[in-house]
Amino acid sequence: MAGKSKVTLSVIKADVGGFVGHTSIHPEILDTAKERLHNAKEKGAVLDYHVLRCGDDLELIITHDRGCDNPDIHGLAWNVFTVCTEVAKELKLYGAGQDLLKDAFSGNVKGMGPGVAEMEFTERKSEPILIFMADKTSSGAWNLPLYKVFADPFNTAGLVIDPKMMAGFSFRVEDVKGGGEITLKCPFETHQLLALIGTTSRYMVSTVCRNSDNEIAAAVSTQKLSLIAGRYVGKDDPVMIVRCQSGLPAVGEVLEAFTFPHLVSGWMRGSHTGPLMPVSFYEANPTRFDGPPRVIAAGFQVADGKLLGPHDMFDDPAFDSARRLAGRVSDYMRGHGPFEPHRLPEDEMEYTTMPEVLKLLEGRFKKA
Ligand code: F6R
Ligand code: MG
Ligand code: MG
Repeated sequence: MAGKSKVTLSVIKADVGGFVGHTSIHPEILDTAKERLHNAKEKGAVLDYHVLRCGDDLELIITHDRGCDNPDIHGLAWNVFTVCTEVAKELKLYGAGQDLLKDAFSGNVKGMGPGVAEMEFTERKSEPILIFMADKTSSGAWNLPLYKVFADPFNTAGLVIDPKMMAGFSFRVEDVKGGGEITLKCPFETHQLLALIGTTSRYMVSTVCRNSDNEIAAAVSTQKLSLIAGRYVGKDDPVMIVRCQSGLPAVGEVLEAFTFPHLVSGWMRGSHTGPLMPVSFYEANPTRFDGPPRVIAAGFQVADGKLLGPHDMFDDPAFDSARRLAGRVSDYMRGHGPFEPHRLPEDEMEYTTMPEVLKLLEGRFKKA
């Protein structure tokens, strides 16, 4: 029945080859992905799809009725990435197949390189959704905006003045290094939540649910490429889905969190910190020092599984001041050159010459 069906929204992304360098994506890659997903839709394998890109990341946005972690949907995405990698190789695009870390598909793209944010929900009378996609940053970049959107009344007025939101939201947090996950209820456990998620390299918010009825509100990709591969292979460039309105944060409350271009890790060689700049689709080309890190927001109305959109949500002069601030913060951070805190601490850098330098200087450290 219209308005009552269960739908799954899967956002699956990978860097399959950059144009030019790590800046953007070649149109042939986008066309190839669209053609494959068009065929899948014709066959009835998916309800709807959209293909977008943020910087050098290919973003597949798919609706279907098969639930999260479905092997057919994940297999479809893997095939799209594999075919696009072939095109990238033919065109000698940069880092072709960069994020495809395994050779054979084994039922789920999680752990194979691509990033995945998925949620299954019953469509409301009207279903406004925002999909955020970032480039040149790591999983963990969403922690701060998610806290603001779902737990900070100075950002989200609805937490105070909408009766449906007064009971607050629960955050599921993954410990991506130690393993395990925990659910913390806000506002009661706000301080414990912040104690964890302030460490963005380790504790990552994976989903957010409304306390009053456990309705899913947000889902995030938490995959960390370096942990999967055991070495630096590229940036996570995570994605996030947020449902909005009618007892959930308003579209404008969700976007408000991005008026503060907070510092994230992942700029240049995955080893630098910089501000996350909210930009419209056509401005998601990080060229200054391979950055600064970017975020785009695609708005959709989901209607019986159809994706009406995308609407380019940061295409609004109201975000010019955030962009200008991000530009000024970039100047300031770049002034530090190879010094911390612009350069990440040694154990968080994606790669380093330190072992070689120390070997070269061996024996030259004298007792002071
Ligand atoms: C950051 C990123 C780029 C590259 C840099 C070096 O996430 O993708 O900053 O790290 O351009 O790339 P390679 O080592 O491929 O020359
Ligand atoms: Mg790349
Ligand atoms: Mg990227």
